[in-house]
Amino acid sequence: MAGCPAVLCGDCREIAAAHGPYDLIIAGPPYCITTLCWDRRVEGRHALAAALLKPVGSLWVFGSLRYLLADAGRFEAVGLRYAQDIVWRKANGTGFAADRFKRVHEIIVQYYRHDALWRDVYNDVQRVPATTRNKSVQLRRARTKHTGSIGGGAYHDDGTRIMKSVIEINSVRSGLHRTEKPVALLAILMRTSCPTGGLVGDFFAGSGAAGEAAALTGRRYVGCEVDPLMAAKARARLNALHNRPS
Ligand SMILES: C[S@@+](CC[C@H](N)C(=O)[O-])C[C@H]1O[C@@H](n2cnc3c(N)ncnc32)[C@H](O)[C@@H]1O
Repeated sequence: MAGCPAVLCGDCREIAAAHGPYDLIIAGPPYCITTLCWDRRVEGRHALAAALLKPVGSLWVFGSLRYLLADAGRFEAVGLRYAQDIVWRKANGTGFAADRFKRVHEIIVQYYRHDALWRDVYNDVQRVPATTRNKSVQLRRARTKHTGSIGGGAYHDDGTRIMKSVIEINSVRSGLHRTEKPVALLAILMRTSCPTGGLVGDFFAGSGAAGEAAALTGRRYVGCEVDPLMAAKARARLNALHNRPS
């Protein structure tokens, strides 16, 4: 485990900078869809992320399409470029409205710095065991009048496939936070986008789930949580994990 992850209590706009720059920033910001006191728009969080990312780092933001579309221009404006998006499919979703489809997914979008090249951004694309048959092939050297000679060589199936962009993991019902993200999902993002031992910044720590994922995957972690009670619960969770006999 990479040290005990830290959850700091305060507004990320005031406390995150002192601990950066970050290899990976996770942002599960308030979606502003309820009247709860913590569910308010955090102006300036886009610029904060852009300023605190390492040149080869990236940012993963959770949201609904409605929310992310409204925000798209703000990422561009601070110099963050869209990289890709994935879908977290929940087996057991939530839904406030009886006149809409039951919502069982969330979108997670990855951004990286405008001044970086995608090929330089840390990216360890995850692989999963294959569910289809073995595909090893011998490629024959091809010669066409349009392309000249191409390729040749062998492709050997190692029994794994690139992970698909729709990831199914149940919602969390720990009672710690009503929008708690699953540790398993956060661990996938960390393995993909942060080197082992690298630093993860979690601007909206909530339950501290990302701190647990960081500890399990060997990344360092700094979480910011503005609600003192929530920050204390997250800290207790991570301390318990750290002190657990292995
Ligand atoms: C959507 S929840 C995040 C849930 C978290 N990802 C988890 O897995 O438990 C948003 C959290 O951000 C906190 N928050 C809101 N504004 C904040 C700010 N300016 N700085 C730090 N935390 C903030 C809220 O108190 C809330 O706990």
